Amino acid sequence: MVNIIKIWPYASAVLSLYIIKRYFAGGVCQHEPDLTDKVIIVTGGTTGIGKEVATVLAERGARVIICSRDEVRGTKVCFEILKSTGNPNIYFFYLDLNSFSSIREFSRAIHERFDAIYALVNNAGVFYHPFVQTEDDFDVTFQTNYLGPFLLTHLLLNIIRASGNGRIVNVSSEAHRYLHILNPRYVDELGTRSNNRFIAYAASKACLQLFTYKLSQTLSDCGVTANDANPGNVKTQILDGYFKTYHPLLLKLQTPLRWLLIKTPRQGAQTILHLLLSPDLQDTTGKYFTDCKECDPCPLTRNQELAEQLWIRSLAWINKK
Ligand SMILES: NC(=O)c1ccc[n+]([C@@H]2O[C@H](COP(=O)([O-])OP(=O)(O)OC[C@H]3O[C@@H](n4cnc5c(N)ncnc54)[C@H](OP(=O)(O)O)[C@@H]3O)[C@@H](O)[C@H]2O)c1
Repeated sequence: MVNIIKIWPYASAVLSLYIIKRYFAGGVCQHEPDLTDKVIIVTGGTTGIGKEVATVLAERGARVIICSRDEVRGTKVCFEILKSTGNPNIYFFYLDLNSFSSIREFSRAIHERFDAIYALVNNAGVFYHPFVQTEDDFDVTFQTNYLGPFLLTHLLLNIIRASGNGRIVNVSSEAHRYLHILNPRYVDELGTRSNNRFIAYAASKACLQLFTYKLSQTLSDCGVTANDANPGNVKTQILDGYFKTYHPLLLKLQTPLRWLLIKTPRQGAQTILHLLLSPDLQDTTGKYFTDCKECDPCPLTRNQELAEQLWIRSLAWINKK
């Protein structure tokens, strides 16, 4: 009896920590459909959340196309997934979203090799990237996270439509809510606001969501859906550049808190998988999901006028060369 009284405070502390950690781990995708013969593209599938998404899709039998800029790492990841899942249909394709010509080359290669694509996961992204101009004259953050996926999706629309019931998942972030603070009068303000690296990221994700909204309307008659997934806070290399701005001592002090609150890449993949695999979401389109549940995005990302302005402006941007 005395022993129970003694250990009770420790036991309740451990239990509380476990409950908090479980809560922040988020929802779990419960669907395990057979994806045999379905072709799915995961951009940025070589690391972090994208790699976990690709692995689970391979486990379900899909033909998975992983694409990024690092061919050596990409080929290694394909072998790793083949070894762990036994699925031989994992392919690496080179893709640099910071180059319109690379995106066009990638699209050509996909059209040559496949007749239909079931799903496209626009997952590749950068966070807190220094201001660097791409060969197409855009900020790297803006082009990688928004304009590149905008062009890529357009180039692949016909082959996705060919699958009959395709799904497009754009990987966004809660940071998109800063759109409310930016309150843009004109969409050019979103692509050019680059002094603050966090705001540049937030603006790129807000643009991605405005794109999803307009895209879902454009695709409403052909059975293809487009939705946004927020993975939550996930321990991946995307945060490295941001943490470098912290004092090392502060970083150390935060370690227990990060252990408690930050998801693993497998946990971060769940909402994307839910949008790809849930049979209940066949007709759900133009929505924003967090922790495997639909939730309200920043209302400005559902502003029809802004979404249309951005769409027209983006078409001009991608066609300027
Ligand atoms: N981690 C988080 O806490 C968090 C939170 C909210 C949203 N997200 C979003 O989740 C997505 C995945 O992020 P992650 O955390 O898994 O990051 P990550 O581990 O750094 O993965 C990013 C992936 O994007 C690829 N990539 C970057 N630039 C590219 C380019 N120009 N062209 C083609 N591929 C490129 C990278 O491959 P290469 O470098 O080899 O090209 C890598 O595979 C991102 O869109 C991110 O914004 C993450």
